[in-house]
Amino acid sequence: MAKASAPGKIIFFGEHAVVFGEPAIAGAIDKRIYVSAEETRAGKLEISSSEEISDGHPYVKKAVELASSFLGEDRGLEIGIETEFPPASGLGSSAAVSVSTILAISTLLGKSIDKKDLARLGHQVEKKVQGAASITDASVTTFGGLLFVKPLLETVEPIEVGKLPVVVGYTGHLGETKELVRKVKNLKERNPEIMEPIIRTMGRITVKARRLLEEGEDIGELMDINQGLLESIGVGSAELSRYVHAARRAGASGAKLTGAGGGGCMIAYSRGKESDVARAIEDEGGLAMRVLISREGARVEKK
Ligand code: MEV
Repeated sequence: MAKASAPGKIIFFGEHAVVFGEPAIAGAIDKRIYVSAEETRAGKLEISSSEEISDGHPYVKKAVELASSFLGEDRGLEIGIETEFPPASGLGSSAAVSVSTILAISTLLGKSIDKKDLARLGHQVEKKVQGAASITDASVTTFGGLLFVKPLLETVEPIEVGKLPVVVGYTGHLGETKELVRKVKNLKERNPEIMEPIIRTMGRITVKARRLLEEGEDIGELMDINQGLLESIGVGSAELSRYVHAARRAGASGAKLTGAGGGGCMIAYSRGKESDVARAIEDEGGLAMRVLISREGARVEKK
């Protein structure tokens, strides 16, 4: 039996804008998904999971298919999944499960796979299942750390930062990424002269945020501006706004939704105020999680 794992992610800046070629900043969190792979005699695929990542495990099935064709071997497999964070919450569970499935299979077959191929295959799984996806989630879960994502060049650059404590507030339900991406695209088609400058501004915020992060400066103000712009393109929700305002009142220096929006999660940057901010989010009915950005991306757990 072989086992691999990969972390969840949060997007600090640039969600949605990244779909239109603007940069994003996203980081791996210290909560992971673990996937085990074992050969079965039956010759077919069996999947068991502590929690359902997504109905019918489409990501795992596609990851098995792409891994088998990339590695040139097609075997009956038993795949087991365990997760340390709520799946389907907007924290990148689909990319994490895809990448760790591919890594677990290549480990089981005794074939090494480099991280570039792993990220590329993970991204392909997401594109095939969702229809469209930027490289953000697959890159972060593969390489780990805090990354500056350049979607047009399909490359990422690590951003060196110290400890980056974040409070995540989960609404308990996921916004439909595919639907939300389509909604923004339609809004842009109807109002290009208004939407294009908003999306460009999101990109500028991301570029400035990178500089502030590298200089150890506060990014709260930029998070708040980004949240306003995300609201303006229609991906906010009443719940997310309530948590965002509660977090700011409790002392967060900035707060915004993270990922596709509509539901899912928000994040608050709240150095030294994490407990107060987490409590404020819970008082509004959210599930608060304190996370740290983790340097570790996908890794083999057992050969
Ligand atoms: C979803 O986590 C982030 C979006 O920008 C979509 C994507 O990047 O594929 C909304």
